[in-house]
Amino acid sequence: MELSYSRLLLVFSVLALCLGNQGVRCELTDHFYDNTCPQLYAIVQQHVFAAMRAEMRMGASLLRLHFHDCFVNGCDGSILLDGSDGEKFAQPNLNSVRGYEVIDAIKVDLESVCPEVVSCADIVALAASYGVLFSGGPYYDVLLGRKDGLVANQSGADNGLPAPFEPIDSIIQKFNAVGLNKTDVVVLSGAHTIGRARCALFSNRLSNFSVTSSVDPTLEASLAVSLQSLCSGGDGNQTTALDVSSADVFDNNYYQNLLANKGLLSSDQGLYDSPEGIANTKDLVETYSSDGEQFFCDFVWSMIKMGNIPLKGSEGEIRKNCRVVN
Ligand code: HEM
Ligand SMILES: *[C@@H]1O[C@H](CO)[C@@H](O)[C@H](O)[C@H]1NC(C)=O
Ligand SMILES: *[C@@H]1O[C@H](CO)[C@@H](O)[C@H](O)[C@H]1NC(C)=O
Ligand SMILES: *[C@@H]1O[C@H](CO)[C@@H](O)[C@H](O)[C@H]1NC(C)=O
Ligand SMILES: *[C@@H]1O[C@H](CO)[C@@H](O)[C@H](O)[C@H]1NC(C)=O
Repeated sequence: MELSYSRLLLVFSVLALCLGNQGVRCELTDHFYDNTCPQLYAIVQQHVFAAMRAEMRMGASLLRLHFHDCFVNGCDGSILLDGSDGEKFAQPNLNSVRGYEVIDAIKVDLESVCPEVVSCADIVALAASYGVLFSGGPYYDVLLGRKDGLVANQSGADNGLPAPFEPIDSIIQKFNAVGLNKTDVVVLSGAHTIGRARCALFSNRLSNFSVTSSVDPTLEASLAVSLQSLCSGGDGNQTTALDVSSADVFDNNYYQNLLANKGLLSSDQGLYDSPEGIANTKDLVETYSSDGEQFFCDFVWSMIKMGNIPLKGSEGEIRKNCRVVN
């Protein structure tokens, strides 16, 4: 009963957002493809489920793929485009973003049942939602009807995506730049309740951290020791769970970890105890650490907001192959 009530609220909130967003046509709708490609949900669901049965982490990877797509020129599948000037080669994505093959396989199936109907950007948005759901997270109706962009934007990816070494203020600014606010920063960072990160992204916290302390003082001591041992070989590609207490389960443990100084990335832990975090985000971290339902509800809302970041510039198209423009 609670679930359907909050979904009802969401429908009204989405309407309110659209009406309040003067000048921008609100094109995304619920069940956009119900007449043109009724098989869509089953096909995406099947592929994501199979990929996660082979490797649970893939749910997290698909969620991140959607985020990195949306922050650059809007949610337009631009991250999927191959080519040396592509976003795939931007620093935040190279050897890091995963899931491209899952999207390809979904697209192949869709082209055989409803050719040139479903955009790659919508496939990514939908796949991300099943990644959340099959990890134990909330269900939400993904708004659909996105067009695929005609250009990739490598410098946009390099400059627009947040890095874990950045101060919280500057991360908030990058969210603001795409119409998201500091609440969304805290809520969407909760995506780090699933998935992995490589040593290269947090090993600066483990040794020679500052003139006064070798290890980041906001990293819990026993976790620091185990991470040091993981990363000591110098292989920056070694991975470990972003959520040390429940790596593959979508829950609010991410926030509880932050209260215990067990956030993996500086940008995670900083939400709770960096100076800018204390000023801006700490209270909300505390709220979500003690209220998992509130986190789920707000996460759905922020995901819908992120999924609404509009395609920049061109009109867009429905790509036949997600890796190349038609
Ligand atoms: C707030 C700023 C954020 C920063 C600085 C950040 C940074 C990172 C980094 C450095 C990694 C590990 C990458 C690697 O090891 O190669 C990562 C992984 C991940 N991020 Fe974020 N992230 C942020 C926000 C988000 C958001 C908004 C989402 C989605 C809504 C998200 C979802 C994920 C997921 C699911 C993973 C794990 C992916 C996998 O295991 O394949 N992150 N993030
Ligand atoms: C790339 O993204 C930046 C914002 O990060 C934007 O200013 C620029 O216009 C984009 N370029 C293209 C070709 O879309
Ligand atoms: C962020 O935006 C949401 C609406 O999407 C709003 O409810 C929330 O209060 C905003 N947070 C801040 C800190 O402005
Ligand atoms: C530690 O950091 C200092 C200052 O950044 C640098 O000069 C020194 O070479 C570093 N030491 C090691 C062992 O990396
Ligand atoms: C990680 O792996 C990639 C691809 O195999 C390789 O090019 C890169 O040098 C490795 N990075 C680190 C930090 O070891």
